[in-house]
Amino acid sequence: MKHIELRKNSSFPILGLGTWKSAPGEVSNAVIEAVKMGYRHIDCAAIYGNEKEIGEAFSQLFKQGIVKREELFITSKLWNDNHGEKNVLPAIKQTLTDLQLDYLDLYLIHWPVPMKKNAAGSHANDFYTLEEMPIKETWKGLESAYKLGLTKNIGVSNFGVKKLNNLLNNSEIKPLVNQVELNPYFQQEELAEYCTKNNITLTAYSPLGSNDRPANLKSENEPKLLEDTTLMEIANAKNCSIAQVILAWIQQRGITVIPKSVNKNRLLQNFQSSEIELTNEEMKKIKNINKNRRFVDGEFWIVENGPHTIENIWE
Ligand code: A2P
Repeated sequence: MKHIELRKNSSFPILGLGTWKSAPGEVSNAVIEAVKMGYRHIDCAAIYGNEKEIGEAFSQLFKQGIVKREELFITSKLWNDNHGEKNVLPAIKQTLTDLQLDYLDLYLIHWPVPMKKNAAGSHANDFYTLEEMPIKETWKGLESAYKLGLTKNIGVSNFGVKKLNNLLNNSEIKPLVNQVELNPYFQQEELAEYCTKNNITLTAYSPLGSNDRPANLKSENEPKLLEDTTLMEIANAKNCSIAQVILAWIQQRGITVIPKSVNKNRLLQNFQSSEIELTNEEMKKIKNINKNRRFVDGEFWIVENGPHTIENIWE
């Protein structure tokens, strides 16, 4: 398995396990199976509602000597209602308690969408504007977490070029990772180029199109990524699955990726994608199926009289 050097002595396994939508009751088994298969990078978040159960899985894995803490790369994310410098340390400490860890390898601002405490985000007054609650203030909280050793790296998620640029110009410790949707239908070329130039590693979420999203996060007539005919042709030629072709394509672009699965066969299949090598021709064919279309489109943050528009969410 390839690793990306985030910085000296901090190595990020290119393929990890996603846990968004993995229900308590399934996620512990998925994490244990994944680590036994060789996964070393686990992506979590407070809002996924399953960190306690993942913590139980880590505890078992360490107690049974299956893996050592320092062999794993564990990410978590600050939820929207904990933006603001003073809220970050309590939030990361809660996540560490839930995950039964002393430190994270990476802590991310989940969305550039600050919200009031326990707000659902369904009404305009659930949100702060970015003027009221600037990212650079929240970032100071992440910098403190880093300085205290609660996390080895800090970064963001769902940030576009303009917001990244602002943060790079207004921070003492620079973000090393930006986790965003990335798949053959949403290839993120401009953002990838910007990140490469600025020493920011991209992580691809929803690499397989996240077909298990809740209905309210789906739109009508979505294209079916896992049935794409070009991907199917390549998969047939390589004697592998479409999911494996997608995951190999992302890794070959030097981008880290976190497919979610709670199924043992699919976990293994996804893990083995790192052994597949696509030809230049195959890479080009996949480049041509870009639809510039998000599955996780951010529409859920747009409410009547609210502070956000689709343009300013993603800029
Ligand atoms: P399951 O958890 O039952 O395996 P994403 O990573 O883009 O969010 O996609 C996750 C969805 O894709 C889940 O529904 C997951 O189901 C499914 N999935 C994960 N791996 C594969 C695979 N190799 N082939 C087909 N579907 C997969």
